[in-house]
Amino acid sequence: MSSLTLDVETADRENRNNRLSQWVQETAQLCQPDRVYWCDGSEAEYQNMLQVMVLSGVAIPLNSEKRPNSILVRSNPADVARVEDRTFICARTKEEAGPTNNWEEPESMKARLRHLFAGSMAGRTMYVIPYSMGPIGSPIAKVGVEITDSPYVVASMHIMARVGQRVLDALGEDVEFVRGLHSVGAPLAPAQQDSSWPCNAEQKYICHFPETREIWSYGSGYGGNALLGKKCHALRIASVQARDEGWLAEHMLILKLTNPSGTVKFITGAFPSACGKTNLAMLIPTIPGWKVETVGDDIAWMKFGSDGRLHAINPEYGFFGVAPGTSLKSNRNAMATIARNTIFTNCAVTPEGDIWWERMTVEQPPELIDWLRRPWSPEAKRPAAHPNARFTTPARQCPVMAPEWEDPNGVPIDAILFGGRRAGVVPLVTEAFNWQHGTFLGATASSETTAAAAGKVGQLRRDPMAMLPFCGYNMGDYFAHWLEIGRSAEAAKLPRIFYVNWFRQDENGRYLWPGYGDNSRVLKWIFERCEDKVHASETAIGRLPSPGDIDTKGLNISEADMTRLLSFDLKGWQAELPLIKEHLARFGSHLPDGLQKEVADLERRLKA
Ligand code: GTP
Ligand code: SPV
Ligand code: MN
Repeated sequence: MSSLTLDVETADRENRNNRLSQWVQETAQLCQPDRVYWCDGSEAEYQNMLQVMVLSGVAIPLNSEKRPNSILVRSNPADVARVEDRTFICARTKEEAGPTNNWEEPESMKARLRHLFAGSMAGRTMYVIPYSMGPIGSPIAKVGVEITDSPYVVASMHIMARVGQRVLDALGEDVEFVRGLHSVGAPLAPAQQDSSWPCNAEQKYICHFPETREIWSYGSGYGGNALLGKKCHALRIASVQARDEGWLAEHMLILKLTNPSGTVKFITGAFPSACGKTNLAMLIPTIPGWKVETVGDDIAWMKFGSDGRLHAINPEYGFFGVAPGTSLKSNRNAMATIARNTIFTNCAVTPEGDIWWERMTVEQPPELIDWLRRPWSPEAKRPAAHPNARFTTPARQCPVMAPEWEDPNGVPIDAILFGGRRAGVVPLVTEAFNWQHGTFLGATASSETTAAAAGKVGQLRRDPMAMLPFCGYNMGDYFAHWLEIGRSAEAAKLPRIFYVNWFRQDENGRYLWPGYGDNSRVLKWIFERCEDKVHASETAIGRLPSPGDIDTKGLNISEADMTRLLSFDLKGWQAELPLIKEHLARFGSHLPDGLQKEVADLERRLKA
């Protein structure tokens, strides 16, 4: 151990935070890595991480003419997505974690974790990654430190967060930080050959300790399980901080929408995983004169500014985006963003050394190596890329980043969207009557599950505010917090709330709405509703546009489809009501009165 201690001390000289030094020392004692390495966040360090991955067989470099400075990583089939059933909120009591979270008593979980982490980094390097969620120095930003034994995590964190020495400088001697400890859970015996994607196929634990602002993640190297700044810190821990401090930490994209006369509105949108946030954030409008620019594609932290309005920052620095379905046609801006300096995970590779995934091109390539490293051809009749294959890419490379995207004070929000995948019942767009009704729409949001999380795909579930897997405390209390936010501001200064559904289908599974760039037509209606300049009809479920209120100029869509998309389906909603009631009943005494009242009002309106 003495040489280990020495390594820590020499590398640690730029850190002035005693609590951090002590935690790193303790963690090294527990996990027994061969080395401790403090990340400085430099370009050279990033290149070293890529090299380490290539040498160990985790990654292959892509053809530098086609995809400069980029790699492809293929994970273990047992480690391809977030693991919701292995994710725990270890609050003091089960009630504080609430009915939607897995819970374990903090001390007994810590004891189990200490046992798992003991020696878990043997044969590996322990990396210390200081990171900032949000622009360094922003009053809304927060610092965290992730300790990990995965070079993939280090390289990904370079892209997804601001990392390294500049964060240590901001941390200074006494700034608070979130502690995130991560191990792939695959110690190496001396001379043992490493596997091509080290992870622990048997045991995975993604644990959060909200009281002490700690994260312990064991056994997975993938995405939200392992990049602890993202879902674990910026949503699960931050949602608790936001409740305590009077702000919102949400699973939301942030976009800037400019109309033809140059008026700007900022819109956030909460859709569940793989339900269209990245696509909407980078959308290219199909209606002339309108412009969308990107502020963020996954997470929004919103605080009241001195103007009494909610201001949002994107705490992230890059995009961890769904690859399948991304194409020049569906998302040209994402395709431009990933042209270089990108980490691809679980995509297929072409004979030329570039990546490919389903629906990237109209024609399938004649031959590929699939994500499981097997030869593939279209006859194989199986996807070449994993459905949750992803790209990790710097936000600054996106051609439509809004100039405000790093504004430390955030952007003032005019409208909040909720949504999900619903084949039936839910209209294309609905406006809430007011904040409380909008909170009700968010709290009862539902969606068919996707490949972003391990488990069955296409199952309908309630996913309130798209936060079901990400809320760090009792979701009933979270609803109450939303209502409290609404009470703490002048109604006229609050964002308007809308519910959208791009995924309505007919009996044959055909999407009724073209989606993607044509979603700008719905954004236009939302924009003009915010200015009370366009018509809406009052219905039992909220305000709906009539078919003529949505600009469909140049769009080849039948009147019948349009009518279906915008109709209020009384029978469908009458059938939905008991499901909504059952869902809200789960929260028992934690369900706030405001939402009780909303469900009673809806019931009354559906009877009338
Ligand atoms: P996470 O990164 O998991 O949080 O996902 P996301 O919400 O950012 O979803 P994303 O934009 O990556 O879209 C996921 C999938 O939905 C992709 O396969 C898209 O092609 C598809 N998709 C996105 N927008 C639309 C749309 O408007 N209509 C339809 N039919 N599909 C869409
Ligand atoms: C999501 O699942 O919502 C994601 C991907 O954004 S992950 O970071 O893996 O959570
Ligand atoms: Mn997401």
